[in-house]
Amino acid sequence: MAKVVIANDHAAIEIKERIQKHLVFRGFDVHNLGIDAVESVDYPDKAREAAEEFLKGGYDFGVLCCGTGIGISISANKVKGIFCALPQNAFAAQMAKEHNNANFIAFGGRIDYPQTVEAMLDAYIDSHYLGDRHQRRVEKMHILDGNC
Ligand code: RB5
Repeated sequence: MAKVVIANDHAAIEIKERIQKHLVFRGFDVHNLGIDAVESVDYPDKAREAAEEFLKGGYDFGVLCCGTGIGISISANKVKGIFCALPQNAFAAQMAKEHNNANFIAFGGRIDYPQTVEAMLDAYIDSHYLGDRHQRRVEKMHILDGNC
């Protein structure tokens, strides 16, 4: 079964639960490293836990949620090997896979998205990296990541 690691802070419990439910509906085995009760946690800690778990291998992708998605995505992107997208809508979520080959996707629990988070997630899940002309750019991102 395809696996996904997910984590969230206190500002994104409800959206995390929606995402988790939808991922299970979509047939994923979800490893939840986020919090499920209102307790204050620091998003860099959650980003780091999820990133380190993902890098152990065996995961298709990761999902991160905080109030805006900004802090947790910035944090995750500091970890070598993590390429976390923060899409504004379903189109951007699709592009995150097709053009950027992002291995993490982030959402904000306090953000009003123009589409449902489920639709945005589906756009990412149902897309495939296109390679070709995007490969050169993705390789340059890997160089910035110190990976080449
Ligand atoms: C927590 O209050 C909030 O700052 C955090 O969830 C996130 O939005 C930061 O980027």
